[in-house]
Amino acid sequence: MKYSSRITKLGESLTIAISSLARDLKEQGRDILSFSAGEPDFDTPKSIKDEAIRAINSGFTKYTQVSGINELKLVISDKLKKENLLNYEPSEIIVSNGAKHSLFNAFSALIDKNDEVIIPSPYWVTYPELVNYFGGKSIFIQTSEDSDFKITSFQLKQAITSKTKLLILTSPSNPTGMIYSKDELEAIYDVIKDTGIIIISDEIYEKLVYDNIKFVSCGSINDDMLNRTITINGLSKSSAMTGWRMGYLASKDKQLIKLLNNLQSQSTSNINSITQKASIIGLNGDSNIDTKDFCQTFENRRNLAYKMINQIQQLKVKLPQGAFYLFINIQKVNNDSIAFCKDLLEKEGVALVPGIAFGMEGYVRFSFACSEEHIIEGIKRIDKYIKSIIN
Ligand SMILES: Cc1ncc(COP(=O)(O)O)c(C=O)c1O
Repeated sequence: MKYSSRITKLGESLTIAISSLARDLKEQGRDILSFSAGEPDFDTPKSIKDEAIRAINSGFTKYTQVSGINELKLVISDKLKKENLLNYEPSEIIVSNGAKHSLFNAFSALIDKNDEVIIPSPYWVTYPELVNYFGGKSIFIQTSEDSDFKITSFQLKQAITSKTKLLILTSPSNPTGMIYSKDELEAIYDVIKDTGIIIISDEIYEKLVYDNIKFVSCGSINDDMLNRTITINGLSKSSAMTGWRMGYLASKDKQLIKLLNNLQSQSTSNINSITQKASIIGLNGDSNIDTKDFCQTFENRRNLAYKMINQIQQLKVKLPQGAFYLFINIQKVNNDSIAFCKDLLEKEGVALVPGIAFGMEGYVRFSFACSEEHIIEGIKRIDKYIKSIIN
């Protein structure tokens, strides 16, 4: 069979080698502790599940409007206005099958061959793959611990060319957990204000922020920034709804919304009707109480994992401000993150994600979306592994 050049450009995830090794070892009866989860370990709040059951029993099981039912888009619009200071009307919102689908649609609508997309590194693995898929070119800005893994105005200026189409911002970040402050977003605005660059602001971890830090939405900086920003969000991480597939995109560009509506109507159509009803509760209802509890639990786990990792002399980690990952510096042990992860998995049965998968060597990602007992046991094993290879 002859496959399209487009599809063969999509890479296999760099994490596959590690996850298939973890699976093999588990099948052999080894006790494997995994810290690779990209989703909350909590169950979806009961009020959300009850609403889904109500939707099924009342026969709300047919096609809906392609971009989502009005009632849901109204709740999203209210949420964005109240919580994020983003003035989007329901007609400026498209609900899709998870934030990943919203990103796919946005990239599809905006990237032409050879367009450049600026991606701060380390990055979430999907962005460069999608850029590649649509024929664009990823321009990576390498960040470092010294700048809290955030880009500086100087770096951004250097990366911009006449071909730059998009800038991707992920705050809080996967994999580093860092958050762009209002001042930092203003500095980014100052650099792009005289260009035609569009920002894709991925705010999926928005609700998981710690130490009373105030999350600031990119588009809330000023009206001009709002016009240049495409906001992406969803309920996967905030309401433990990864399997329900609900994400959304908001843009002030009416023509873009119309084109995305066409794309979605010719591909997936509406997201499932039951998830739409349940999401209204997720955004609006009692489940907010549960999601506040999720956040507190994550903060306690973060504190525990951060303290334990930093007690291991050869490792170093910055305190993440949000999301549920530690991005750990392993350079004193082994700069090759895949080799480190493989060896740790084989010797101590602990699965981490190599930093190279996110574009940064010398680091590993540790997800604390798991119980405190799991965290304590896992870090004890990491400590044991490091002692065994250092001595
Ligand atoms: C930064 C980032 N954006 C988007 C997504 C996708 O979220 P969803 O499950 O809503 O498609 C993820 C999931 O891991 C993520 O880490």
